[in-house]
Amino acid sequence: MKDLLERARAVQARAYVPYSKFQVGCALRSASGAVFVGANVENASYPQGLCAERSAVAAMVAAGEQRIAEVVVIGSGNAPCSPCGGCRQLLSEFAPPQTPIHMAGADGGLATSTMGELLPMAFGPLALGGEPVERPATARDVLEARFGADFPELAIVLGSGLGGFADKLEDATAIPYGELPGFPTPSIEGHAGRLVVGRIDAVPIACLQGRLHVYEGQGTGSLATMIRTLAALGTKLLVLTNASGAIDPAIPPGAIAVITDHVNMLGTNPLTGPNDDSIGPRFPDMTEVYDPALRQLIEASGEALGLDLAQGVYLATPGPSFETPAEIRAFRAMGAGLVGMSTVPEAILARHAGIKVLGLSIVTNRAAGLAGHPLSHAETLAVAGKAAGDLERLLAHSIKELARHAT
Ligand code: HPA
Repeated sequence: MKDLLERARAVQARAYVPYSKFQVGCALRSASGAVFVGANVENASYPQGLCAERSAVAAMVAAGEQRIAEVVVIGSGNAPCSPCGGCRQLLSEFAPPQTPIHMAGADGGLATSTMGELLPMAFGPLALGGEPVERPATARDVLEARFGADFPELAIVLGSGLGGFADKLEDATAIPYGELPGFPTPSIEGHAGRLVVGRIDAVPIACLQGRLHVYEGQGTGSLATMIRTLAALGTKLLVLTNASGAIDPAIPPGAIAVITDHVNMLGTNPLTGPNDDSIGPRFPDMTEVYDPALRQLIEASGEALGLDLAQGVYLATPGPSFETPAEIRAFRAMGAGLVGMSTVPEAILARHAGIKVLGLSIVTNRAAGLAGHPLSHAETLAVAGKAAGDLERLLAHSIKELARHAT
């Protein structure tokens, strides 16, 4: 709450109030953990001004969110500032009855109420005798309604060409991302955009068939919603798969590589912005993103299957252009053995939320300048498709052991 109060106080100072001189600031936290702020804006035809709460709600909706978790309102007067009747009604469209509404005054006084307590003081839909308004559901609501407490502790993100793994699930339930509010809407061939929940070898598993990349230009907010929804539902271990180019000349196309660490060259971090301490710390440790015990387990599985697994540090670039040979030489000097355009945001989000991570890469090509021919997405998909069988065997062989580590 303290962070919201600080944000509300900061935006309050920017209010445009030449007529009333009464500055109001509002900060609200949405279901994804993002914070939206608003200040009151007056104009000469006084009643048409904008309340601070209204501005903050509009910013949240414009950002694609529709669920409020907590609200702070602060006013210029000493008495705690409460939302006006119209704002209570507007907030109640997005805030469930138990949502805390903190009302602060200039002298530090604070009163906390809930949306449910405040709403009857406005002419809300309930007071008008109408049906209760249905709250917009979150992805977590949808999945809890579907699976109750039985959501898998083991989840896997299926990268380029690997979507077929989800077809191997027994008793599968598939939910398009479109039915999961806030989930990504992938636009890339080879990424279906479905969550498939089922079992392999009696082990419950959730497959995320399709992911979002930085180059799609939608930001990483929906990836955060995806990973944090899994965490909230009890997922403890996330296997991240991808296709990559080999910077390390010893790794041949078609190989499967265990990711040992990463270099984030995306130019962005999915934790940018206000931190929700209930999810994870502001400055999460990244010393061992890719769990050593899981890496050992998968190496042993590979050996048992006669698969010659490679290893490497994965460097993520934003794409969508492939790298230049000069960039690849620079990345090699930085210690990277593999290059790709995904995985790192999910790995950071998962570690922040306390989920263990295993990273597996299908090496589809030698990196730019090392192949002797130009790179293409078609080649990536074709080689990934061929090597996918090996990765599927590896996962099927290790799934019981993986499940044992999903705690
Ligand atoms: N570069 C970036 N991403 C990739 C590559 C590559 O060479 N191969 C597969 N994904």
